[in-house]
Order: sequence, then structure tokens, then C-alpha cells
Amino acid sequence: MPGKIRLGVNIDHVATLRNARGGNHPDPLSVAKALIGTGMDGITIHLREDRRHIRDADAEAICAWAGKPVNFEMAITSEMLAIATRLKPHGACIVPERRAEITTEGGLDVVNTRHLLRPAIAQLQHAGIRVSLFVDPDPAQLEASAEIGADVVELHTGAYANGRPGELARLTNAATLTTRLGLECHAGHGLTFANVQPIAALPEVTELNIGHYLLGEALLIGLPTAISEMKRLMIEARL
Ligand code: PXP
Repeated sequence: MPGKIRLGVNIDHVATLRNARGGNHPDPLSVAKALIGTGMDGITIHLREDRRHIRDADAEAICAWAGKPVNFEMAITSEMLAIATRLKPHGACIVPERRAEITTEGGLDVVNTRHLLRPAIAQLQHAGIRVSLFVDPDPAQLEASAEIGADVVELHTGAYANGRPGELARLTNAATLTTRLGLECHAGHGLTFANVQPIAALPEVTELNIGHYLLGEALLIGLPTAISEMKRLMIEARL
């Protein structure tokens, strides 16, 4: 039987809502604290280079609180490496970042940037941070991730969520390969109540990171209920 599966809740868009008014409500840290007991196992935040949602003070406060493990999504820049090694979140997830994109559109090109990633991974691990790489379900990218010493890969489920044919099979094979390579397997992007179960059912997947859909559902049923329902669906899929 598959083991437990964790739900990391991405709260970036709490900050998006706050920033729309320029004040300090809603406050991401207060929201994170209020979500204890809902089925949320970790908090995910992405401090983007342009600070469009989470800001430095949010990252600082949430990492200092650490009421749940914090997964710090970051681009591989010297600025972000300095911030991550200072804040020491539980985990860092290195993602590709382009200023013009609305969200993280594709996985990292680990194969062609391993010379940059290898020392960054070592630096983060030296600071006691577990390192994850956000990659497409492509065997070459997974093999390169293992070769340069990542602890975890997070499989990009965006193409699956968009209904690309064959994508569930690619993710299934990628999850198997990930654990065969000795890496922990996470997944995320674009997951909803309707599409989460086939991904949660993959026995190798130990964590899902979900944000935008939960915040959207929160408008209808409240964020705690949305998180509890997502977690219920994940657990049901494992049975
Ligand atoms: N995982 C990673 C690495 C991401 O960059 C994102 C989006 O910020 C997510 C998961 C969550 O995606 P979504 O907001 O579509 O649930």
C-alpha cells in the first residue's frame, strides 16, 4: 500500500490579494497560522525576483514562525541563495523564473544548467536545507537531477492539468524513475479537486504542492474547507 502523502499549501496569492490594496490585509503569516489543523502539512511560498506577491518581510516572518515545514520556491540567483541560506526554510524548491510569465510555466532545464545548479544545491544543503528541483516528467532531467545531488524532484503537473494526452503516463513513469534514482518525488501545478486523484494515487509521490485552485475555491467554501477537501481526496486516492 502507498505510504502517506503530504499537502503543501502555496499561499502566494494571499499576498497577491493583499498587494492589490497595498495595505497589510490579508496577512500571509496570519493565514498560515489559521490553517493549522485543516490537513495542510506544509507552507509553500515563492519569493519571486519581482516580489509580485510574497515579499521579503513575509518570507522572513513565515520562516521564523515555522509552525509547519516551509518550502521556499526560488530562482537560482545569488540574491535568492543568500536569502534562503539566511532564512533556513525546511526545504528549497529551485524553479525557473521569467519575469514576463504569469506562473512557473515549465520545469528547469537541469541537463543544460547543471554547472549552475550543482554548487547552488551544495550551498543550500550545507545550510541544512533539503533541495528540490521543479522539473518536467522527462527522464533526462530526472537523471541529471540525481547526478547533481538533489534530494527531491517536484514533477510539473501543468501539462497534465491542461489535458495534454499521454501526460499521466509520463508522470507515472517519471515517478517510478525518480525513486529508482534515489530521489524523493513531489508533484504540483494546476491541481484541482477534479484532477488531483490520479496524481495522488501514484505511490512514489509523497507530497503535492497546491495553491491557485485552493485560493479560488476559498471564495466559495472557505480556505480551511477547501484544504480539508483536497486532503480528503488525496487520502482517498491512496486507498
Ligand atoms: N509547485 C511549484 C514549484 C510552483 O511553482 C507552483 C506555482 O507557484 C505550484 C506548485 C502550485 O501551482 P498551483 O498554484 O497551480 O497549484
